[in-house]
Amino acid sequence: MTEVSRIPQHVTIIMDGNGRWAKERGKERVYGHYEGVESVRACTEAAVEAGVKYLSLYAFSQENWNRPQQEVESLMKLFFKSILEERSGFMNNGIKFVVCGNLEPLSEGLREQILECMEATSGNSRLTLVLFINYSGKWDIVQAANRFIALNPGKEIDQAGLESCLATRGIPDPDLMIRTSGEQRISNYLLWQCAYTEFYFSPVYWPDFRREEFNKALEVYAGRDRRFGGVK
Ligand code: FPP
Repeated sequence: MTEVSRIPQHVTIIMDGNGRWAKERGKERVYGHYEGVESVRACTEAAVEAGVKYLSLYAFSQENWNRPQQEVESLMKLFFKSILEERSGFMNNGIKFVVCGNLEPLSEGLREQILECMEATSGNSRLTLVLFINYSGKWDIVQAANRFIALNPGKEIDQAGLESCLATRGIPDPDLMIRTSGEQRISNYLLWQCAYTEFYFSPVYWPDFRREEFNKALEVYAGRDRRFGGVK
């Protein structure tokens, strides 16, 4: 059996339930997204304390462009604002910030903000915080295949080769995936990378998913028996 640590090296989260959280309080959906940023901060702190090395978050899927224009614009503004405001916190806490996804359709201002933050925090190593923006799992596999072919003309694609071309190259596959708000599906997220990931579904809406909830997920993970297709 493969020996695995009780602390996951990589935790990934599908942050879900912001809209319903806001609606239950008679507020606009965007209010839930703003409150969700507080959960991002709380879970990042909890991850650092627990010794998790990679925390990744599904912030905006390629399908999310289909939301009302006003909500999309609010989310883009929120990304800009949060990345700007969190940058000094990243530096003070040794956090390396990385964004994965197709950044081309984003505004130039947001793209610059992302690249500057990635550059400034690139030397940090306590925790890598990965934000998936304009990402989808199927897109990633197709872009990886095209990239492989462009880099290796005439060569047959193999697993290691494809992996080395994914948007997540260099980032270990998630050990634990959390989805909040009671939904139990993968929503075109890390389709290739979640082959042996453990799943944890919480009924709690993302804006309420703070430190204790995150630690609860780590506890459940610690009790899981991972066999990676083998036997014990
Ligand atoms: C899903 O809830 C949430 C999102 C699509 C956006 C999540 C983004 C953040 C919390 C901002 C994080 C940003 C940074 C830069 C740290 P939903 O709207 O699908 O909720 P619903 O299912 O209740 O409608």
